[in-house]
Amino acid sequence: MKPINIGVMGVGTVGGGTAQVLRNNAEEISRRAGRAIRLFMAANRDVERAREVCGDDVTVVDDAFAIVNHPEVDIVVELIGGDTIAKELVLKAIENGKHVVTANKKLLAVHGNEIFARAQEKGVMVAFEAAVAGGIPIIKALREGLSANHIEWIAGIINGTSNFILTEMREKGSNFADVLAEAQRLGYAEADPTFDVEGHDAGHKLTIMASIAFGIPMQFDKCYLEGISQLTAKDIKYAEELGYRVKLIGLTRRTDAGIELRVHPTLIPEKRLIANVNGVMNAVLAKGDAVGPTLYYGAGAGALPTASAVVADIVDVTRLLTSDPEHRVPHLAFQPDQLKDLRILPI
Ligand code: HSE
Repeated sequence: MKPINIGVMGVGTVGGGTAQVLRNNAEEISRRAGRAIRLFMAANRDVERAREVCGDDVTVVDDAFAIVNHPEVDIVVELIGGDTIAKELVLKAIENGKHVVTANKKLLAVHGNEIFARAQEKGVMVAFEAAVAGGIPIIKALREGLSANHIEWIAGIINGTSNFILTEMREKGSNFADVLAEAQRLGYAEADPTFDVEGHDAGHKLTIMASIAFGIPMQFDKCYLEGISQLTAKDIKYAEELGYRVKLIGLTRRTDAGIELRVHPTLIPEKRLIANVNGVMNAVLAKGDAVGPTLYYGAGAGALPTASAVVADIVDVTRLLTSDPEHRVPHLAFQPDQLKDLRILPI
């Protein structure tokens, strides 16, 4: 059987990690997928960097449209971020019948309804494990692991940069701006770090999880957002004296009146597990009616943890491509024609 050809668009932190994981674990990955997987093309503005990272056997271009239009690319991996050029590329890839793997939470939270509808029309898969909580397989947990449950609520720490900042401010009394610069240096922060510290990034991730858990359209514009930029080391110290930790929490839950969707700093009693999730680590709690509360923990950002989720999606899509198309379960957040229009509550 011919190998599955991967085209990666964007060779930054996560793109570099993806090339590394595909190379280091090539044999196991291909064995698990049931088919050889190879990094075939990469697109990056800095072509030289991409060549260094990807190796000589990969075709490197500076125009990502060359990947989505290439007849031999089977799976397009979008790691550019944002919702302008990335949206055009993803829609074009879908139109060309390519399967898509993306880590782009903003793209899905804001334009996911359109993207999933187009993917369903074209019969292609859009997989996005890396879009939420970095290396934690939370999308698979919600969609597959908890598929027997009526999910009641989801809550968690889903922005690694904010959690890293809050942890360093508490443990070392560090200054907000210095820790943010360190998070950027370590490759945790978004291109525009206000997305991290003002709660937007967590809101995007929460929107995606709510869509899967409750079968509702993506409604990021209805999400209440409050970040951590106004918090000082003193606030964190006072909270600690009272026996609490300050955490940026994303929470979504069903109520009789509709669905709550909100992100804001929260005081958590220091003995709770979630109060002890530190640094760039993320944790998501999800409660199902049958299973009860469940907890998922792991690195929420960074090159290799996020690449772990990207490559897991590549493996999944490859497996599904190799299976009988009649019985394929598409990788959509929801079936666009089966949406429930549940009201999101104003806060
Ligand atoms: N900037 C994000 C974070 C990266 O800090 O969590 C992972 O989505």
